[in-house]
Order: sequence, then C-alpha cells, then structure tokens
Amino acid sequence: MIYLDNAATSWPKPEVVYDAVSNSIKRSGNPGRSNSEEARAAATDIIEARTALAELFHVADPNRIVFALNATDAINLGLQGMLKPGDHVITSQMEHNAVTRPLAYLEDAGVMVTKVKTDPVSGADLDEVRQAFRPETKLVIMTHASNVTGTLNPIGEIGAICREHNVPFMVDASQSAGAIPIDVVKMNIDLLAFPGHKSLLGPTGTGALYVSETVSPKPVRSGGTGVFSEVRLQPEQLPYYYEAGTQNTIGIAGLCAGAHYILERSVNNIYFEEQKLVQMLIDGLTSIPGVTVYGPLTAPRAAAVSFNIEGMDCADVAMILESYYDISVRSGLQCAPDTHRMLGTIDIGGTVRVSPGLFTTADEIDEFLWAVREISEGE
Ligand code: ALA
Repeated sequence: MIYLDNAATSWPKPEVVYDAVSNSIKRSGNPGRSNSEEARAAATDIIEARTALAELFHVADPNRIVFALNATDAINLGLQGMLKPGDHVITSQMEHNAVTRPLAYLEDAGVMVTKVKTDPVSGADLDEVRQAFRPETKLVIMTHASNVTGTLNPIGEIGAICREHNVPFMVDASQSAGAIPIDVVKMNIDLLAFPGHKSLLGPTGTGALYVSETVSPKPVRSGGTGVFSEVRLQPEQLPYYYEAGTQNTIGIAGLCAGAHYILERSVNNIYFEEQKLVQMLIDGLTSIPGVTVYGPLTAPRAAAVSFNIEGMDCADVAMILESYYDISVRSGLQCAPDTHRMLGTIDIGGTVRVSPGLFTTADEIDEFLWAVREISEGE
C-alpha cells in the first residue's frame, strides 16, 4: 500500500512511538492519582511530553501546554473560553470545520464573526485583516495551513497586526505542527491548537492547546485534577485549570516519543525534505493533461495537495486509486466546505487530496503520478 493520506493522520509512526504506547499501556496506576512507582513513571511521560512540545514551539513554560482530546477539542476550548455574546472574532475563508462549526454555534449565541477574503495561493488578505478590527474584536483565529490545498496563512504578519491592536491571536496548527517551523514568540501567537496524531507522529486521541500568559480562557470542562482537591472550582494553576479527569496517558506517551523524534530530526530539515517531495508531486500532476491542481504550485506551502481530473468525480478517482493501485488518498470536502467555496469546488463535490508524509519516498510519488496519468487517459 502507498499511503498518501498523512493530512488525515500520519502513517506509519516511528518504532519508538509504538514502543512507548506498548510500554505505557502495561503500567499500573493513574498519574497524579496513584502513589505507585509505575504511576510516577506515567506522570514523567506526561511532563516530558509537555517539555518536548514546549521546545518545539518555543514555549518557555511547559505547563502552558494543555493536553486535549485532539486539535478540535483544543480549538473548542480556545474559542468557547475566549468569546462571549457581543464579542467579535476575525477568521479566514479557508478554515476546517473544527473552527467554522464552533464559530457557527458562537455566532448563533450572539458572537459576531468576520471571515476575511482569502486567496487560494497567498491566504488571508492582510489589508482585509487590518480593516476587520472593531472595538468589540476579542480574538483572531486562523489556520496556519489549509488541510485541502496546503496554502499557508501569513501568520507571522497576522500575529504582528494582532499585537498592534492588542487582540489575542489563536492559530490552528493542525496541518503544520511538527512539519513547519512555529515560534509562538516571534509569531505573536497567544493560543496554539494542534493534534498529536498528524505531523507530530503520535497516536489519535491526542492534541494540545498552548495558552500564553497574556490570555486566560474560561475552562470548558471541570472535574478532578489529582491535586488541589479541596478547591471548589478548577484550581487556576496551569495545566490543571484546563485538564480535568484522567489523562490519555498511553496516547501522551506515544506523542512524547513522536515529539522527541521530530526534535531529533529538526522541523527545519523535515520541512526542507517534504518540500522537495511536494514539488515533485505538483510538477508531475500539472504536467498531466486534464489535471487541475488547486492552491500554491511552489513553496512555501504545507504537504496537502488537491487536484481534479477533468470529467471525473473526485470520489471515483480516489476509489480507483485505492482499488486498482492500492494508493490511499482522501477525496470530497475534507471537512472544509469554506475552503471549497473559496476554490469553487463545492458544487463538484470537492477534490482528490494527496498528502505525503515523513516516510513517503520519491518512488512512491512516481508510482502515484503514473497511476493518475493512466486514470486520466481512461486506461
Ligand atoms: N482534518 C483531517 C483531514 O483533513 C482529518 O483529513
């Protein structure tokens, strides 16, 4: 099987991730709740995971990395915790439903939402971002990279604009964390939501939110923390303020191994290598008659590439790739209908999305291109 669906979840994971998961599930006890040595070992995994993730994103205090169920859960915490009726929020037109749906609920509750004009190649229009601020603006939320086209929003520039307006900036790093360098200090990011199971190479069911000292979203969950049990409400110390109940210890142990693996390889190197494969993929696709590629055709971009073959349904193309060539991709709207409205592909059912990952080889890209060429020629 040739796996080109890393934007959905990375596969395979490094061996160290499988080993960490396997070792963790065999341990007894509950970190922070049991006194056993094994429970303390599990607690150490969690601390090490926070520390590794903090290092990756240039966060000074690891306790400001708050674990969540996934990026969606982290985004929900950020949005629901920061916004109340009467507030205004600015976002882009190429967000995933992980952002647009929580915002839609908040809009129904009286939050005003502005989606600034967004270009499939260059991302959110900076002039529109500047003009969108109002006295009621309480947050800007942007995806770093589109999960459909790999388009980057200019988050460094947007972070600087937010700072000028003294408005917190939240970034959905679902398609970039672990694959594209992120520095929360230089980019003026106050809240960074990311999944553990994509480019950070951890298991599904993991994710986190970085919460800077400058913001204090209301917790959306409350419950046991293992410490400060005498306090009536959530203790305000981080990470306990936002982490209620037993952690996904096993998943976090795997994520810890994945984050260390990424740190050893360095995100800069990973990004450089992935760009070479993505360029090969795009150059190959654009040379096939009848194939349309959406979004940026050169770097900088993330590793998700969307295309269609003239006269063919994207779902059929994906099905043929899977059934006849054993190549895994994702077709349809990829949970990002706004992005397909921006691309003009919503009424044709979306695109075929192909997403190489850390372990994809040039030979696999060649085989994929050969298959697309055959399909486009109707063979
Ligand atoms: N958000 C993931 C994707 O784009 C699951 O496929």
